[in-house]
Order: sequence, then structure tokens, then C-alpha cells
Amino acid sequence: MPTTFSIALIPGDGIGREVTAPAFAIAQKAAASSAATLASTTYDWGSDYYMQNGRMMPPDAIETLRKHDAILLGAVGHPDIPDHVTLNGLLLPIRRRFDQFANVRPAVLYRGVSSPLKALKAGDVDMVVVRENTEGEYAQVGGFVHHDHDAEVAVQTAVFTRHGVERIIRYAFDLARVRNKKRRVTSITKSNAQGFSMVLWDRVFERVAAEYPDIQTESLLVDAAAMNFVRRPQTFDVVVASNLFGDILSDVSAIVTGSIGLAASANIDPTRRFPSMFEPVHGSAPDIAGRGIANPLAAVFSAAMMLDHLGLQKAAKQVETAIETVLAEEKNLTPDLGGSSSTAEVVNALSSFLN
Ligand code: NAD
Ligand code: IPM
Ligand code: MN
Repeated sequence: MPTTFSIALIPGDGIGREVTAPAFAIAQKAAASSAATLASTTYDWGSDYYMQNGRMMPPDAIETLRKHDAILLGAVGHPDIPDHVTLNGLLLPIRRRFDQFANVRPAVLYRGVSSPLKALKAGDVDMVVVRENTEGEYAQVGGFVHHDHDAEVAVQTAVFTRHGVERIIRYAFDLARVRNKKRRVTSITKSNAQGFSMVLWDRVFERVAAEYPDIQTESLLVDAAAMNFVRRPQTFDVVVASNLFGDILSDVSAIVTGSIGLAASANIDPTRRFPSMFEPVHGSAPDIAGRGIANPLAAVFSAAMMLDHLGLQKAAKQVETAIETVLAEEKNLTPDLGGSSSTAEVVNALSSFLN
């Protein structure tokens, strides 16, 4: 295993620019204590780049990123540029081009954090949403007909392939085994209304499940799942869902476990042909950007997931333990968690627990 890793940093927009460098610095410090070096190159791509260059990243961006061992991304999105331009110009093409088909989004209720669900206490929720990340409702197949006329028609086609559905479901079952917690996989569909794509998903789920007799299964319709994430979040372990359903449900699991400011994610290419990308679940948060109060912990957790992916399990664990300590102390919390600390104060506290 090499002891030097090359990391691409894309801070992006808004609070992404406030949390990415500190999250990387924390990961770097933890890696150093495992005798590993994280070398970084920062790419100033995003909305400011767009305003100057008319595109979100240069034409050879994918080739540039391909050379790195991993990518740490902040957030993308600017109030003055349509979201479909910014996101389809930067974040979504990276996920697709690097075939990062597993979007892994853990949600844990930590000590020191209060859930808006008052009955829940620390440790009650420990789940992970595994979201298909390359096709489904995000396939970007479609177009406009009669553009800008009264008769305008928009077509947006979801694409579900057996290959794509099977590999994400298999990933979820393997994860349930490795986690070795409740050993349970919940599949989310809407096959009562979507009689083709979601029926294919249900069929594949049943077939793959038969290969994992040691893992319990459950199938929920997405509307009932949204309710049950609130009603009984304790019962979930690994939840597997399509691109759009996983997107929505992972915001629910984030808030149930305290704040979107804690929610991490990994966009994984499990075959390791391409670099994987690590990023918080949250966006650029224009409502708080520039005030130095963004919670950096989602980005730091994402950086810990990156360490784990790079084979630096001990360093990843150290970062997680430092986060748990900061949360449990309840002294250095940002406003989203009911505190009054700044981003920098939280990062300093974290760093002090890494010595
Ligand atoms: P958002 O996640 O940016 O913000 C939602 C709410 O959560 C806001 O009130 C915000 O202040 C709060 N919040 C988010 N992260 C926080 C943090 N770390 N600490 C404290 N509070 C935090 O979602 P949005 O407002 O729907 O989207 C804003 C922009 O970001 C849009 O352009 C959207 O398209 C984009 N977006 C990008 C990504 C990404 O790059 N991965 C993800 C989601 C949204
Ligand atoms: C996320 C975001 C993105 C998504 C948007 C910004 C395109 O909401 O990562 O959760 O839907 O995947
Ligand atoms: Mn989202």
C-alpha cells in the first residue's frame, strides 16, 4: 500500500468553501499518525469559475481528476445560476463518469446531539442509506419539444438497468454483512404506481436476497418509508433506494439524527477503476454562507469515509472518535446543533483531540 495519497480538493461554492479545507486538514493530521501522507491539489472549479469561463470545470477536468486517489468535494450551487446548470456541470458528471454507483450515506444519532424526535436518545439510530448513483431518475435522458411555446412538452425518462439495479442491491447486502449490526436490508420502491422500473427493482431485490439468507429483508413503498424513517428510525440498518428516492430519504435520515450539518456521504466506485468522491450531503447553504457558522462535521465525517476507503482505517476511526468527543462535550457546537460556536472553533476542538 502506498503511504502517499493524492487527493483532489474541490471546495466548490458557498459553505463548501468554508468546510472543505479544514476537513482535509483534519484527515491529513489523522493520516500522519498512521505514517501516511495526504497530498492535495485544490481545484477552484464551481460557480465563480463558471462566471469567468462559462463552464463549471475545464473540458479536461475528468482526465485531471482521474489521476487522483480520491476526491473531496464541498458543495455546488449558486443563487444566481440555475441549479441544473451548476449541478449538471460539475457534481453529477463526476459521479457518472467515474461510475461511482454506490452513494453511501450513514445516519447515526450521537451522544450530545438531540433529535427533533424527542423520544430518541443517543445510539437509537444507526442506519445507512445506500443510494443508486448513476442512473434511475437522474439518467438525464429527455428533452423539450415545442421549446418556449404554449404547447411545450418536457420529457424526462428514468432509466433502470438490471445491471445497475443488481449491483447496488448487492452492495447493500454486502454492507449489511460487513456492518454486522442488525443484518437487515430494506428496499425502497414505488412499484404500486411505477409498474416497470420499480417492478424490475423488486424482482432483482428478491433474487439477490435469496443469496443472502443470513440477512433479513424488508420492502417498503417510498411514501411509507418516509413515514417510517420518522416513526421507527431505530429499526433500520441498511436501506437501499433508487437515485431520487435515496436523495430524499437521506435528508430525512439526516435531520432525524440531528442536522444535515452532520450528514456525510461517499460516492464509491467499488471496482476501484476510478477515484471515489467524498462530500457532505448538504449543499452550498447560501442562507448562511460567508458567516463562518457552517457545521464542518459533515465534511469531516466525509473525509473520514475517504480515509477508510484509502485503507487508513485507524486514521478514520481516530477522526470519528474526535467528532464523537466534540459532540458529547456539547461545548463546541455550531448553531444548527443548538450551539453558538463558529466553524473554526469546532475545527480547533476536533484538532485538539487528534494529538
Ligand atoms: P442546503 O443543504 O444547502 O441547505 C439546506 C438548509 O440546511 C439551509 O437552511 C442551510 O443553512 C442548512 N445547512 C446545510 N448545511 C449546513 C451546515 N453544514 N451547517 C449548518 N447548516 C447547514 O440545501 P438547499 O438550500 O436546498 O440548496 C442550496 C444549494 O446547494 C442549491 O443550489 C442546491 O442545488 C445545492 N445543493 C448542492 C449539493 C451538493 O453539492 N452536494 C447538495 C444539496 C444541494
Ligand atoms: C445530494 C444533492 C444532489 C443530488 C443535487 C445537488 C443534484 O441533493 O447530493 O444529495 O440530488 O444528488
Ligand atoms: Mn440531496
